[in-house]
Amino acid sequence: MADPYCVFNSEVLLCLSLLCAVIADDAAFMSKLAEALTPTPSGWSGSSFCDWQGVKCNANRVTSISLASQELTGTLPTNLNSLSQLTSLSLQDNALSGPFPSLSNLSMLQTVFLDGNNFTSVPEGCFQGLTSLQTLSLTDSVNLSPWTIPSELTQSSNLAKLDLGNTNLVGSIPDVFGSFVSLQELRLSYNNLTGALPKSFAGSSITNLWLNNQKGSGLSGSIDVLSEMIHLSQVWLQKNQFTGPIPDLSNCTSLFDLQLRDNRLTGVVPPSLMSLPSLQNISLDMNVLQGPVPSFGEGVQFALDGTNSFCRKDVGPCDVRVTTLLDVAKGFGYPLKLATSWTGNDPCGDWSFVVCAEGKIITVNLAKQNLTGTISPAFANLTDLRNLYLNGNNLEGSIPGGFTNLTELEVLDVSNNNLSGDVPKFSSKVKFNAAGNDLLVRSGGSGGGTTPSNGSGDAPNKSRNAGSSGSSFSSALIVGIVFIAVCFVVVVVLIFKKRHGKFRRVNIQKGRRVQGFEGERDTIPIQVLRRVTNDFSEDKILGRGGFGVVYKGELNDGTRIAVKRMQYSRSSAMGSMGMNEFHAEITFLSKVRHRHLVALLGYCTDDNERLLVYEFMPQGTLTQHLFYWRENGYVPLSWKQRVVIALDVARGVEYLHSLAQQSFIHRDLKPSNILLDDDMRAKVADFGLIKSAPNDVNDSVWTRVAGTFGYMAPEYAATGRVTTKVDVYAFGTVLMELVTGRKALDNTVPEEMSHLVSWFRRILHNMENISMATDQSLNLDEGIMESIYKVAELAGHCTAPEPHQRPDMGHVVNVLVPLVQQWNPTCTHEEEGYDLINENTYYAMSFSEILSGR
Ligand SMILES: *[C@@H]1O[C@H](CO)[C@@H](O)[C@H](O)[C@H]1NC(C)=O
Ligand SMILES: *[C@@H]1O[C@H](CO)[C@@H](O)[C@H](O)[C@H]1NC(C)=O
Ligand SMILES: *[C@@H]1O[C@H](CO)[C@@H](O)[C@H](O)[C@H]1NC(C)=O
Ligand SMILES: *[C@@H]1O[C@H](CO)[C@@H](O)[C@H](O)[C@H]1NC(C)=O
Ligand SMILES: *[C@@H]1O[C@H](CO)[C@@H](O)[C@H](O)[C@H]1NC(C)=O
Ligand SMILES: *[C@@H]1O[C@H](CO)[C@@H](O)[C@H](O)[C@H]1NC(C)=O
Ligand SMILES: *[C@@H]1O[C@H](CO)[C@@H](O)[C@H](O)[C@H]1NC(C)=O
Ligand SMILES: *[C@@H]1O[C@H](CO)[C@@H](O)[C@H](O)[C@H]1NC(C)=O
Ligand SMILES: *[C@@H]1O[C@H](CO)[C@@H](O)[C@H](O)[C@H]1NC(C)=O
Ligand SMILES: *[C@@H]1O[C@H](CO)[C@@H](O)[C@H](O)[C@H]1NC(C)=O
Ligand SMILES: *[C@@H]1O[C@H](CO)[C@@H](O)[C@H](O)[C@H]1NC(C)=O
Repeated sequence: MADPYCVFNSEVLLCLSLLCAVIADDAAFMSKLAEALTPTPSGWSGSSFCDWQGVKCNANRVTSISLASQELTGTLPTNLNSLSQLTSLSLQDNALSGPFPSLSNLSMLQTVFLDGNNFTSVPEGCFQGLTSLQTLSLTDSVNLSPWTIPSELTQSSNLAKLDLGNTNLVGSIPDVFGSFVSLQELRLSYNNLTGALPKSFAGSSITNLWLNNQKGSGLSGSIDVLSEMIHLSQVWLQKNQFTGPIPDLSNCTSLFDLQLRDNRLTGVVPPSLMSLPSLQNISLDMNVLQGPVPSFGEGVQFALDGTNSFCRKDVGPCDVRVTTLLDVAKGFGYPLKLATSWTGNDPCGDWSFVVCAEGKIITVNLAKQNLTGTISPAFANLTDLRNLYLNGNNLEGSIPGGFTNLTELEVLDVSNNNLSGDVPKFSSKVKFNAAGNDLLVRSGGSGGGTTPSNGSGDAPNKSRNAGSSGSSFSSALIVGIVFIAVCFVVVVVLIFKKRHGKFRRVNIQKGRRVQGFEGERDTIPIQVLRRVTNDFSEDKILGRGGFGVVYKGELNDGTRIAVKRMQYSRSSAMGSMGMNEFHAEITFLSKVRHRHLVALLGYCTDDNERLLVYEFMPQGTLTQHLFYWRENGYVPLSWKQRVVIALDVARGVEYLHSLAQQSFIHRDLKPSNILLDDDMRAKVADFGLIKSAPNDVNDSVWTRVAGTFGYMAPEYAATGRVTTKVDVYAFGTVLMELVTGRKALDNTVPEEMSHLVSWFRRILHNMENISMATDQSLNLDEGIMESIYKVAELAGHCTAPEPHQRPDMGHVVNVLVPLVQQWNPTCTHEEEGYDLINENTYYAMSFSEILSGR
């Protein structure tokens, strides 16, 4: 008998013969399917499967199965693809389990809904040959073993909707979207996808792109490709690791919903984003976006709060220096490390890589930072720039001609990049290094300062550059530049070198007195120390302490050192006291080493000389920065810096107190014994009064009272009884100084205020007093007041009259840590940037030597 389907088919005979075979197949499969499902779907009885509820046939061939939300369990027969006429399969929201059925070669299949089941795996190749497929939806299959986006789907060139959210996908999104000319919805949220957005997204017809909330490390790389996806209307990329700037989306005129929060996007928000015609809903919070806070039109729902690196909290333009530096960062593609450090509206605050003098940017050092991109002409707007280091990156493009307009420029190092184009002509004042850029064209007769050196990618080599043009510097300038350059390099080293090198000990051991000579001239170490300090000349003095004078010096290998020359003479009482301190310090410092205790590099004894050699701390003492910043031309310490310093000191002292073998008491903690690195990290110095403490905390030792008035705990001053709580008291005093900017003892103010601890403890009774007592140079915004209260309160506890009422240093550290973390929630600040005194020191040192040009 003639089948109505085949009547219209020209090859009736062929059709008939096929039909006989496959009719049997569908019946067999359908009865197998009915058996596999529990409970049996309602209305699935009798042999006429085409009449079963939810089943549609065409000429006895199954074309559609629809069994959504029927609480079905069981495992689908694997040969589901024998239903070769199937166009639609809807089994969503049941509890089907086992492997996913193979759909391969179902060339009529158009829609597949299998969401919300309990499948366990997706067999290889099961989506092969689905040439008619338009919709594949398989969300919320959380028990699937990890699988990857099947590449065979590229055969489904009509695919319009691919929804694989929350299905345990791993790996990257394959770059195959050129094959999906009709794809509109791509939903891959809540998987464990990684890698970058595929390039073939560009030019696609995707309207809904859901890639949010990847569970593992997340999708990464730039989101530039969005700018070429002009059909986009809804983009959910939140909770990934995307980096780089937000592209210009002005061609995405249908975009109404853009969720970008919780990524690592950097750069200035493009103005075009604020004028997108269809935009209704946008989130940008929890990124590292820079520049001005964007403002969106009325009717746009936006989220911006949470971490970002905007220059201000309110809408408004950035400081012009910020704007210029952001242009500079743009040239490099807004790298993350600049975005995390370059926050706020004051580049001279604590921005990495930037050194200022009196609010002017004089040095930018971005040497060896893996930068790519180009050198922005915006550098030419930094009119006070003296030193620019861009060496050792992978920069392309040319050296902007505007650089010749930088009249203050003295050092320009672009060596070891991939620059091209012409070299501008610099004045002879400029030390210019462009070695290691094979494509650079040197239009002969370049400026006199050009160093035709063969760059090694390292810091400029001292011997190579020495003397090339140093004589043209005024000596004041030299000192300034040397200092700044050293500071800068140390900062860079501190922040970005994390290598754990062995401490490089300067080998200045006890000087031997050579028999037969009366003097000390043959003791080599002393000679060295005399030479590097210009025979202890006045202009090398860094400071004076109770027991000696401290000089600065620089060893042959470039190591900068601080030399303490103890006042010592055998006959005087003062001398023997100095001798005790000398030995106390050596004994102590040779036993301990901690990153918040200043390191002893060596020492030297001779008949009339007792010398201690320390690492050099370029920013000097806390006293200078806290009380004499104006006189020294420093920027006042920010609250953040003060809390970090407090924590550093607390950790150093905690370490002293809690040494396993033997615990120590510093006894003379005060700002002049707190030394600062270039990034304002602190180390405790001066262990001349250190005492080893009894192991039982409740015990104490009685000693001759020594220390400094104003910081001395009452019980110690009265009785000489010393416990670790003496240091806690002194630390509390330092905290008060950090809060108020006032010295522990100040005779220039009315008597009732002159003893800081007494006065501060009095006003502490009313928290409202605190804000009036805070250092005028602090910029009080709401965020920091909270933190100031906590520190003020801690200072009160630490200076309690009875030692047992004071916390121990471990507690102090615990109070301070969250205050510091408030600014660095993600980065473990404490672990970063420490091991400076290894070979990196050399790096810093040779710089200073070059620049001094001697
Ligand atoms: C699908 O069809 C191709 C050729 O049309 C064939 O080679 C392949 O074996 C088929 N796959 C299955 C699973 O039937
Ligand atoms: C899904 O399958 C797992 C076993 O693979 C089983 O433990 C779980 O109960 C099932 N969940 C549902 C909702 O059926
Ligand atoms: C994501 O996948 C990686 C391997 O591809 C795996 O190590 C990690 O545990 C997964 N994360 C989650 C949250 O599933
Ligand atoms: C927008 O599209 C036009 C025309 O294709 C193109 O010239 C322009 O560069 C595009 N703009 C962006 C920001 O991609
Ligand atoms: C905007 O998006 C957020 C997050 O997806 C959503 O909670 C909110 O309802 C959306 N608002 C509008 C107006 O669409
Ligand atoms: C530069 O990149 C290399 C390799 O990716 C890495 O090892 C190095 O630490 C990076 N240097 C800096 C300063 O980020
Ligand atoms: C320099 O700054 C001016 C004004 O702030 C600006 O118009 C100009 O574009 C800047 N130049 C460069 C090269 O960025
Ligand atoms: C340098 O400055 C002058 C005047 O200030 C200006 O005319 C010139 O265009 C600048 N050169 C470059 C290359 O920017
Ligand atoms: C240097 O830049 C050129 C283009 O200016 C590029 O072709 C080449 O691959 C680059 N070399 C390196 C090592 O990046
Ligand atoms: C420059 O250094 C390279 C290796 O870094 C060396 O092969 C080359 O000979 C050197 N050129 C000169 C002029 O010293
Ligand atoms: C500096 O140059 C000298 C001599 O040209 C060489 O011996 C030394 O190894 C170089 N040092 C560095 C760090 O390149």
